[in-house]
Order: sequence, then structure tokens, then C-alpha cells
Amino acid sequence: MTMQPFPGRFPDTRLRRIRRHGWLRRAVAETVLSSADLVWPLFVHDHEMALPVASMPGVERLPVEGILRAAGEALRLGIPAIAIFPVVEAARKTDDAAEACDPENLACRTVRAVRKEYGDALGIICDVALDPYTSHGHDGLLKDGQIVNDETVDVLCRQAVVLADAGCHVVAPSDMMDGRVGSLRLALDEHEHDGVAILSYAAKYASAFYGPFRDAVGSSTALGMAAGRGLGDKKTYQMDVANTDEALREVALDIAEGADIVMVKPAGTSLDVIWRVKAAFGVPTFAYQVSGEYAMIKAAAENGWLDGPQAALESVLVIKRAGADGILTYFAPEIARCLGR
Ligand code: PBG
Repeated sequence: MTMQPFPGRFPDTRLRRIRRHGWLRRAVAETVLSSADLVWPLFVHDHEMALPVASMPGVERLPVEGILRAAGEALRLGIPAIAIFPVVEAARKTDDAAEACDPENLACRTVRAVRKEYGDALGIICDVALDPYTSHGHDGLLKDGQIVNDETVDVLCRQAVVLADAGCHVVAPSDMMDGRVGSLRLALDEHEHDGVAILSYAAKYASAFYGPFRDAVGSSTALGMAAGRGLGDKKTYQMDVANTDEALREVALDIAEGADIVMVKPAGTSLDVIWRVKAAFGVPTFAYQVSGEYAMIKAAAENGWLDGPQAALESVLVIKRAGADGILTYFAPEIARCLGR
């Protein structure tokens, strides 16, 4: 009785009681992360050997064979889907991004190989945007110093159809052009791909945290060259980090246009947005823990400044706590292995 901090006032309230044992903490946990919550983004390139991404320790650009092995690993780990990002040779990048619509391009060949090996056991998600394919590194076509909307959407539709023809299960427009979800839905349906889902990057911010990804796919060099022409950022189509009401409008439009899943990106700096989107719409909501978020944790861990695995787990758990139903993260295999133990 002498230990009672507020004698007589809060006789039963000792919240530390439920933190006392590991089993009890597990039993009362409000959020439980599972490998089924994760999507593993993978970089594919047209070389025989794997090539590390310097700014993303532990991440490699893989040949198609390597993607097949990673896909097998995803399946064993209970990760439901992979997201494929092609690294396009500089010589194949053009102003009109023609390579994006070639059924023999690297992304399509990779999709066909994975689909042939694993059928429908593992989800295949493909990015729809032009940045890997444009000489200037932008997600859309550039005319007179502007990213043109509707002409870009036409190309995105053709890109989505060749990816669907190749066998991907989900197309994920990450370009942030207006009206692209509705146009993609129509184009897919016209080509008998009404079973292919759209995961729209609905609230995608113009973020500094995409830097390592752009290194990985080589679009940072292209964007860097465009910077000389005053076109070095994506702020005329990706959202201003200052805004969340606008994020809800973006999401509302994409749902109205037929998005099956909406995504918020980056994840860790947008937990409030994830929360608002899930609360407002109650639709399947994904979040993308992007390359820069991954790189920060890896860099600190490599310096011995953070417990890397614990920090990774925490960073992904809070994204789920904020309301995300699925999380794209480069930590996917690490975390799935850790959860399996
Ligand atoms: C391309 C795309 C980007 C990412 C996913 N798709 C980069 C960008 O918009 O510049 C970023 C992913 C990451 O940083 O991990 N449209």
C-alpha cells in the first residue's frame, strides 16, 4: 500500500502490468505485422551479374534469373507479391519513351519469366510510368518545357496493356498524371484485361526520399541533365509535401476512376496521410516505404548508430499501425525472415 502513487485515486490503474511479460505484450499487441503485409520491390537489369546499388546497402539490380530466385524466396517467406522495376539501358531511353510500350522490353520479359515459373502463386506488380524510359528521367512526356498530361496518359495506357499482356497481375501507375486511372481501366478492359487490378500511387509526394531509387534505375543522371534546363524535379505532377487535404482529393478521384488499391508514398513521412485515407475511404490502402527511408536505416545501422533489424521492424510496424493494409518495402525479405523465427 505504501507504494500506491496516488492513494485511493487510481487503485487499479497500473498500465505497466500489461507490459510485464513477453507473452502478455504479444497477447495485447494491437498491431501485428505479418509477411502477408509485405510487397518486395525488385530491380531487374539486362546483365548477367547482380550489381549492388551503392546507396541501398543489401539491394542489388538482378538479372532475370536472379529475379526468379528472389520470387521463389518471396513465395517461401510468405510475401504475397513482388513489384518489378526495370533498369533501362541509357541507349534505349528516348524523348518519347517508346521502349515502355515494346512487348519485348525488359519489364515484359521479366514478367513473362516469373509468371511462367510461378503462375498465380505470387503476385506480380508492375510500375506504370515513363521515368525509366525517358531521356530526361521524367514520368511523362516533355513538350516545350512542360510535362504534358493527356499525351502521357495515352502512352501509359499502351505501357499498361503490354505489361498486362505479359502477365502481370497488377499495374501500379506511379506517374501522377491527372485522369490516368480511368484511362488505364478502360484500356485494360478493352484489351480483355478486366482481371488486372490497378494499384494507384494516389497520394505520391514530390519527395527527397526517392534519391537512391533514382540511382538504382539510372533516372537520377537523366533528371540531373534535365536540371540544367530547369526541369530537375517532379513538383509539377507529384504532390506538395505540405498538403493532406489534397491527398484525400487525389485518392477520391482515383477510387472514382476505378483504382482497386490506393497507395500513399513515401510511407514514413506520411503516416498522418495513411491514417486519414484509411479512415475516410476504408478501401485497400498500401504505403511505400521508399528507397531513402531504407537507406537512412541501413546507413545508420552500418555505422553502428542504430540496431538495424529492430529499427527496420519498427519502421514498418508503425506504417501498418497508421492504417496500411500492405507495405512495399526493401526490408521485405529481412522482415519476413525475422517474423518467421
Ligand atoms: C517512378 C517511381 C519512383 C519510385 C517508384 N516509382 C521514383 C520517382 O517518382 O522519382 C520511388 C521508389 C523509391 O524511392 O523507393 N515513377
